[in-house]
Amino acid sequence: MLGVLAAAAAGLWAWRRWHYPSFWLVVAFPLTAISVRATWRKIALGCHLTKKRQRFWFTTVPGLVASTGVVRVRRKWQRIAVDTKPFMWLPKPTRYGWRVTLHTLEGQIPADYADAAERLAHSWGVHAIRVSSPRPGRVVLSATVRDPLIRVEPLPTSPDLLKVIVGRLETGGPWIIDFKTIPHWLNAGATQSGKSNLANALVQGLAPQPVALVGFDLKGGVEFTPYSPRLSALSTTRDECVGLLDDLVALMTSRMALCRDAGARNIWQLPDNERPMPVVVLVDELAELYLMADKSEKDEIAKTSTALLRVAQLGRAFGIYLFCCGQRIGSDLGPGVTALRAQCSGRICHRVNDPETATMTLGDLDPAALASARAIPAETPGVAIVASQDGQWYRARSFYVSEQVAEHAANTWAHLAPAWTDVVAGHVPQMSDADLAELLDSIPDPRKA
Ligand SMILES: Nc1ncnc2c1ncn2[C@@H]1O[C@H](COP(=O)(O)OP(=O)(O)OP(=O)(O)O)[C@@H](O)[C@H]1O
Ligand SMILES: [Mg+2]
Repeated sequence: MLGVLAAAAAGLWAWRRWHYPSFWLVVAFPLTAISVRATWRKIALGCHLTKKRQRFWFTTVPGLVASTGVVRVRRKWQRIAVDTKPFMWLPKPTRYGWRVTLHTLEGQIPADYADAAERLAHSWGVHAIRVSSPRPGRVVLSATVRDPLIRVEPLPTSPDLLKVIVGRLETGGPWIIDFKTIPHWLNAGATQSGKSNLANALVQGLAPQPVALVGFDLKGGVEFTPYSPRLSALSTTRDECVGLLDDLVALMTSRMALCRDAGARNIWQLPDNERPMPVVVLVDELAELYLMADKSEKDEIAKTSTALLRVAQLGRAFGIYLFCCGQRIGSDLGPGVTALRAQCSGRICHRVNDPETATMTLGDLDPAALASARAIPAETPGVAIVASQDGQWYRARSFYVSEQVAEHAANTWAHLAPAWTDVVAGHVPQMSDADLAELLDSIPDPRKA
């Protein structure tokens, strides 16, 4: 008998070990679902998600006092206040856990459930509970049993232009950086949090595509120099930086004139044979662009800051996209930074040391996102909170792309790198400053759109 039990336990263990998804579906999930339903009343009560309702209930009430002094109880139907729990549908299995729909009680909003999410997660012993609301009156609790980002399985690469699958979301879906939908990105995080790894993943993903890559690396070029075969331009000193930004602004104004002449609002509306090549600008350590060693650099920094801001404001329509990495992206770096931040609608926040950086990067997102960003452990570099224009946020982890792998990709696709002079040429007359100012005003802020 004992032998049979031991064999069954070993079999289950092996099943769980070798094919967790099927083990989860067949064995673990049904048990979990039963226990979730069975514990819901107590847990809802403990998490203050119940409401008092008047109900007829068969209760015992004190009756007559007998001559012996004993109080006799009597059973009676009467209206009393009982705790009602929100109605729960049957839990459904998901890739990394389960999800269940609830009907909110009177006066409740999804935020009440979001506030209780941590309590719920602890009560059910799961990694995390996320709350969403598909329609009024319903909330969906999604539980992840184990942190799915401890180990991320690779995905095939994306075939679409300017779209790179850089990692996986907590939901198991792909983490996509798509410059065509979200043109500019901020990528913040403490040191060793995985910022450069994400830039590597981008280099690897964009290298085979017909795009020009440009690097700004004021950390002495240690990060991007290995990828220079695939980069059309790389600036590692402040002088080069000013020159390259001038080139970018010139490129933008020439593309602007091209679009205006063709009656197009952006380069994607131009006919295929006239459309200029998209340019992705990678900036490692944004702060270096703004830091002043001495007063003599003041003018250069002011120029850099203005040029970068112009690129951000107008670039999206003219196929120039920014990806800025930095440890801190605060207004203490200078007035230009806040404006630049406002232009970057894609936000990525890796592990951070202080709450301000998280708030600065993610903006006024759901407080749960900020809490989640601060809770990223140092043992999992590459884990980040990703926010995009739709106001949704996700926990995600980038695929590990070592420098060697990215360098190899850069060398393999080196022949696709257009010469910077060729990119900048294709030149049409430059715009006057007045025209430029007018265009600057006419383009709406993406975050307010
Ligand atoms: N997605 C990931 N999966 C596994 N390991 C990772 C991942 N991302 C980063 N790492 C590891 O973390 C280390 C630090 O990453 P990275 O160099 O990208 O950090 P960083 O934020 O750029 O740091 P710094 O600010 O010092 O430049 C890398 O050497 C790498 O081994
Ligand atoms: Mg780095």
